[in-house]
Amino acid sequence: MPSVTTLCGSSPRRQGVESTALRRSMAGATCVLALRGEVTALALAEAEALGFQTDVRHGRLALGHRTDDLGVAAGIYAVLDGGDIHAWTSNEAFVASVVERWEPPKGRVCVRVERLGGRMKDSSTQTIARSLGGHLSDMACVIDLDRPEHVLRVVLDATSHHVGWGWDVPRTTREGVGARRAGERPFFRPVSLDPYLARTAVNLANGSRGGVLLDAMTGTGGFLIEGALTGQETVGMDLDPTMVDGAKANLEWAMDGRAHRASVVLGDATALASSLPASARGRITGLVLDPPYGRNSHGSHGPWDLLARVLASTTEVASPEGADCCLILPIAPITTADDGVVHDSTKVEPLHGSWEDVVALFEASAWSLRPERWSVRVHGSLARLILHATCAPPS
Ligand SMILES: C[S@@+](CC[C@H](N)C(=O)[O-])C[C@H]1O[C@@H](n2cnc3c(N)ncnc32)[C@H](O)[C@@H]1O
Repeated sequence: MPSVTTLCGSSPRRQGVESTALRRSMAGATCVLALRGEVTALALAEAEALGFQTDVRHGRLALGHRTDDLGVAAGIYAVLDGGDIHAWTSNEAFVASVVERWEPPKGRVCVRVERLGGRMKDSSTQTIARSLGGHLSDMACVIDLDRPEHVLRVVLDATSHHVGWGWDVPRTTREGVGARRAGERPFFRPVSLDPYLARTAVNLANGSRGGVLLDAMTGTGGFLIEGALTGQETVGMDLDPTMVDGAKANLEWAMDGRAHRASVVLGDATALASSLPASARGRITGLVLDPPYGRNSHGSHGPWDLLARVLASTTEVASPEGADCCLILPIAPITTADDGVVHDSTKVEPLHGSWEDVVALFEASAWSLRPERWSVRVHGSLARLILHATCAPPS
């Protein structure tokens, strides 16, 4: 019998700190990624920061070589081993191409077929699931819809008219995200970041780097919590003692007694050489920045001066191997490409200043701004611009 998947969340109180390893370790093997949401290009950049090597992308599907670290990615909906991506033609042709090259594992199996981005002409999830299920039965596989050991997942992507398939690799990232949304935490301020975006930023900045992640202006601890949940050594810092106490409370609430490697300190992000704990100095490999803006969050300097000072200060405490930075800036909503990319020609209007201020900021620093830019809409008058920069090791 066919089955269409619905993935459910569970309380973070029942989770362990997320393992960075996918349960079936096949690092380097070819796999299909089904990417979440509308900002597909950002989701893929996150996967690449975690070591995924992309061969090809079609809409919300990507084919490439995986690493064990993908288990912590926020932008991945499914990781599928041993499969492929095909241009859509028909139910029958698709089933024939799967059966030609699949290698069903031993044990209890089931088939799940689902759609991303709406309905694709002449496609039937039921026909595909029934047909693939029939072939599995013919091969003497045990079909078990309730407790399968292996799930053959098929993803019909209407955004690209392609279909991806493979054996599902279990992941935990989606679990508990709803329960740890900012409004659910003990300490809330309107500045709090969405956990998915915070997770993506943490992975972009420190994905496979392995040193210390610095959340230099931690506020309520949005990045800090995701760093802790992914098992990274993380330092959160804020100039405001109320934020420091609140971030600590949120961190302990999110971790619920489980061991972690995160801490929160009162300090000035423009003077990290003196305010960062000695154990983290010279070991920063990832910097995440969500600088103050608006009535709810006041910076210690003007917006560009503050950022310039924080970037300069971070180079003094960066690892000898260099560091990556993910900067999130509030901007007026803009039109992006279908995959969330902000084209070079698109006029970006930060809430404070101009795009030229951003360029000047990085040009005057030791950080190189990467060309890719992405945007996530917050509401009718606010969006977030996501930028990625790299600080080379000192020569
Ligand atoms: C937009 S909020 C960060 C929100 C955070 N990402 C969250 O999820 O809650 C910016 C924070 O920067 C802090 N801040 C401003 N200047 C600072 C400085 N020089 N050093 C450290 N923190 C600073 C503010 O106190 C504020 O909490």
